[in-house]
Amino acid sequence: MVQLKGADRARYIQGVFARIAGRYDLMNRLMTAGQDRAWRRLVVEWAALPPGGRLLDLGTGTGEIAFEALRRTSNATVVGADFTLEMMRLAQAKGLTRTAPVWVAADALRLPFPDDTFDTVTSGFLMRNLADVQAGFAEQQRVVRPGGRVVCLDTSPLPDGPLRPLIAFHLHRVIPWLGRLVTGQADAYAYLPASTAAFLTPAELQAIMEATGLRQVRYRRYMFGTVAVHVGVKA
Ligand SMILES: C[S@@+](CC[C@H](N)C(=O)[O-])C[C@H]1O[C@@H](n2cnc3c(N)ncnc32)[C@H](O)[C@@H]1O
Repeated sequence: MVQLKGADRARYIQGVFARIAGRYDLMNRLMTAGQDRAWRRLVVEWAALPPGGRLLDLGTGTGEIAFEALRRTSNATVVGADFTLEMMRLAQAKGLTRTAPVWVAADALRLPFPDDTFDTVTSGFLMRNLADVQAGFAEQQRVVRPGGRVVCLDTSPLPDGPLRPLIAFHLHRVIPWLGRLVTGQADAYAYLPASTAAFLTPAELQAIMEATGLRQVRYRRYMFGTVAVHVGVKA
């Protein structure tokens, strides 16, 4: 499935997320022992959205980063965009009881926004799903104003080290088993380790962000090096 390209890849990914949407947040808490909340907080911190600013959260899913950005910034306009409506419907339902972002159906590779629209673009666990990562960053950079930020949270291939066998066991055995138990969708949770293994290392991701023209790119790693948050500034 990670070899799929273009429209086939997009269709496959929409199918995966549509099937697991209802249990997506719960699975995140279980797989990461609740750590995912801290990573999303760092994303919003590094987004450095000014009061009254505009943030786009791409591949927003159930909206966790988008809500966190709204909580942290007064008078902000936050837009959450995704191409799997089943995920965004859950985000929308959360918004019925609190101040909510604006939800937009959009493909991350063809954003329906003019150039220089946002102060910052964030994404959580989106980039490894894209058929063309560099085109994805180029599109994000296009819609950010000069001096604005692009922030990316995603998984990274397993680093070498003494803990590698243990982490590999968690990723390739425990997560698909937990996925089957909690969502009934073992194959969807086999996609997570497969797409992680096939993704870029944090240094490679940094190089791609720089190749699209982003400046001051840096990153921080989490969870034994299996998760990274990157930030870059549009020149
Ligand atoms: C793993 S979920 C992440 C959700 C959320 N950002 C988070 O931090 O939990 C990935 C999301 O990216 C979306 N996605 C994947 N490829 C996309 C694309 N080309 N355009 C828009 N959304 C996409 C999926 O529909 C899914 O909701």
